[in-house]
Amino acid sequence: MAARRIKVLAVLGTRPEAIKLAPVIAGLRAHPSFRVCVCATAQHRQMLDQALDAFAITPDIDLDLMRAGQEPDDVAAAVLRALRPVLQAEKPRAVIVQGDTTTAFAAALAAFHQRVPVAHVEAGLRTGDRYFPFPEEINRRLLTTLADLHFAPTAGARRNLLACGVDARAVWVTGNTVVDALRLVQGRLRAPAARRRWLDYFRRVWDLELEDGAPPVILVTGHRRESFGPPLRRACLALRDIARLDRRLRIVYPLHLNPGVRQPVRSLLGGEENIRLIEPLAYEPFVFLMARARLVLTDSGGIQEEAPVLGKPVLVMRRETERPEGVGAGRAELVGTERRVIARRVMELLSDPAGYRRMARPASPYGDGRAAGRIVAVLARRLGGT
Ligand code: UD1
Ligand code: UDP
Repeated sequence: MAARRIKVLAVLGTRPEAIKLAPVIAGLRAHPSFRVCVCATAQHRQMLDQALDAFAITPDIDLDLMRAGQEPDDVAAAVLRALRPVLQAEKPRAVIVQGDTTTAFAAALAAFHQRVPVAHVEAGLRTGDRYFPFPEEINRRLLTTLADLHFAPTAGARRNLLACGVDARAVWVTGNTVVDALRLVQGRLRAPAARRRWLDYFRRVWDLELEDGAPPVILVTGHRRESFGPPLRRACLALRDIARLDRRLRIVYPLHLNPGVRQPVRSLLGGEENIRLIEPLAYEPFVFLMARARLVLTDSGGIQEEAPVLGKPVLVMRRETERPEGVGAGRAELVGTERRVIARRVMELLSDPAGYRRMARPASPYGDGRAAGRIVAVLARRLGGT
C-alpha cells in the first residue's frame, strides 16, 4: 500500500504571493511525499487570478474575500474567520505562507490557533521602521513570531531572524523563489513565437512599440499604501517632468487596481503624450516588457528582486528598503519620493552610458533560481517525508 502523503496547505492572497509560491507548489506537487492543497483567500481577485494563470494553478479552495475599499483590518478579520473551518476540515500537517501581506499574517495566526505549524517563505526581511512599509513591516515581525520554519531568501534575512531570537536550527537560507518563477518565464520567452506574440500584443493592445531600436521605455509601478497622498503625487509629477524633458521616452505604467493608486495617477498623468497608463499585465508579458525596458522605477518588492536578474537598473521610489542586497550590488538605488530627485536621477542615468552600464550588468543578489527545491527538501525532512 502506498504511504500516506503529507498534506500541506498553501495559503495565498495577492499577486506576488501567487508568483512566489508557484515554484514551491510545483515542487510539492512533483514530490511523492506531499499532497498540497492551495487555498486562495483572494485578497486580490483579478490580479491573483492573472498571476495564478501564468503557472496553471487552480486553487483547491477559493475564499473569494476581496472587497472594494478593503482595509487591512477587513482582510485580516475575513481571513481569520474563513480559514478556521478550512483548517479544521483539511487538517494539514503544515501551512505555508509567503511574504508580508495581510493574508500571510492572518493565515499564520489562524494556523497557530489550530496548532498547525507554519512555514514562512521569504522570512526575515526588515526595514527596521515599523511604519515603512505599512503595514508590511509589522506583518513580517508578527509572522516571525508565528512561524515554525523560516525560509530566508538571503544571508541578511537570516541575520535579521537570528537578531529577533529565532533558533538558527529553524532557519534556512534558500534564495528567493521569485528568481525560480522568473527563470521559468524567461525560458518560455526565449521561444521566437513568444517574442512575436508579445511584440504584437503590446503594439496592438497598448500602442507600444518594443522592437529593437524602438524609443526607450521606462517601466514604472507604484502601489504602496504609505506613499498614498503627497509622495505618490510627487512621484507622478516627476514622471511628468521626465516625459516632458525627453519626448522620445515612453513611460509605461501598469496601474495597480487599487483605486487609491489609479485615481491620482490618472488625474495627474492621463493625456500626457508619451506616458502610457495601462492595466496590470499578466506575468509573462510583464517580464517581457521589463526585459525590453531601459530602466525600472518602482516601489514594488518583487520588481526590486527581478530587475537585476534581467540587467535592468532599478530606481526605488522609497526612502528605505528591506531588500538592501540590490543596492549593495550596485544594481538598485533608493531615490525616495521627492519630485526633483527622482527626475534628476533618471535623466542622469539615461545620459551616463558608463554609469548605466555598471548598473545594467545582470546579477541575481536574491537567489539562484533553485529556492523552491531547497524549501521542498527541508519540508520533506522536517514533516517526516523522505
Ligand atoms: C497588497 C499587500 C501588499 C502587496 C500588494 C501587492 C497588504 C496589507 N498589502 O496591497 O503588501 O505589496 O498587495 O500588489 O496585504 N484591487 C482590485 N483587484 C485586485 C487587486 C486589488 O480591485 O485584483 C483593489 C481593491 O479595490 C482592493 C484594493 O485594490 O480593495 C487594495 O487591495 P489590498 O490587497 O487590500 O491592498 P494592496 O494595496 O493591493
Ligand atoms: N507584476 C505583474 N504584472 C504587473 C506588475 C507586476 O505580473 O503589471 C509582477 C512583478 O513581476 C512581480 C510582482 O508582480 O513579480 C510584484 O507585485 P507587486 O508589485 O504588486 O507587489 P510587491 O512585490 O510590492 O509586494
